[in-house]
Amino acid sequence: MASSPPPADAPRTRAGAASLKDGGTIAPVREILWGSSAGVHKYETAEEVPPDMQQLLVKLMVVQADTEFASIQQHRPWLDRAPTLEDRWIESRIIADEARHGLQACRILRDFGERGQQLIDELLAKREGEHKLDAFNMAFDAWSDVGAFTCFVDRVGVYQLRAFQECSYGPLARAMPLMLSEEQLHLNFGASVLRRMVHDGPKYAGTPAEAQAAVNKWYPRALDMFGHSNSDTSRRAIEFGLKRWTNEEARERYIREVSGLVGNLGLTLPPAEFDRHVL
Ligand SMILES: [Fe+2]
Ligand SMILES: [Fe+2]
Repeated sequence: MASSPPPADAPRTRAGAASLKDGGTIAPVREILWGSSAGVHKYETAEEVPPDMQQLLVKLMVVQADTEFASIQQHRPWLDRAPTLEDRWIESRIIADEARHGLQACRILRDFGERGQQLIDELLAKREGEHKLDAFNMAFDAWSDVGAFTCFVDRVGVYQLRAFQECSYGPLARAMPLMLSEEQLHLNFGASVLRRMVHDGPKYAGTPAEAQAAVNKWYPRALDMFGHSNSDTSRRAIEFGLKRWTNEEARERYIREVSGLVGNLGLTLPPAEFDRHVL
């Protein structure tokens, strides 16, 4: 029996529940959604990507992979020093997730042949203190650092990944949903560490004052991670359909989000200009 067409005012979804139940297919987004090539097919192979966009995509993936591998080095000493058994398990989970994210970014670098492989080799050789962004060259000296880093720095990572959602390079766009769901665990964990420090103090680990000091230490580095305002690179990334927002737009959204969150934790945010290196 032929099924009747949906009413004209039915909401348009990519995969309606009814068609899924009937064994229907989920239509992927095949076209570029923004930028100067909006409306044409996404790039699905490295060979299709125009040379100037290749350069930028490779640069973005090197920075992405560098942050993932660096954070493994930062978390590593806490694998068996975290205060509770559950915290240790989550630390190990975070390290495994970051390793997978690094692998994911490197797979995209590998698409770009010998040059991509050379960049991967360089990334794997980097030690503590040699990374691109300041936030990833600082050690976790106390448990409060782990809490504030995952709450603030991983949250910037989520904004960067969300900016790549449904981007013009198909393999990157398709990597985003899983990475984002894993990052969500990291930020929730960071907020929970800070909350427990504020509410339970030394009965859990550290003190509310230590939690506040860690906020003051990591929040400026997190804001720096968005990059320079009026950056030409971020403008070009939007034109190529790779990123959805400029650095400044993303930073402003982030500040709005964390302002509400930190108040609920019983902590305060320093002003956005406090201790900043990248403006
Ligand atoms: Fe990650
Ligand atoms: Fe993370």
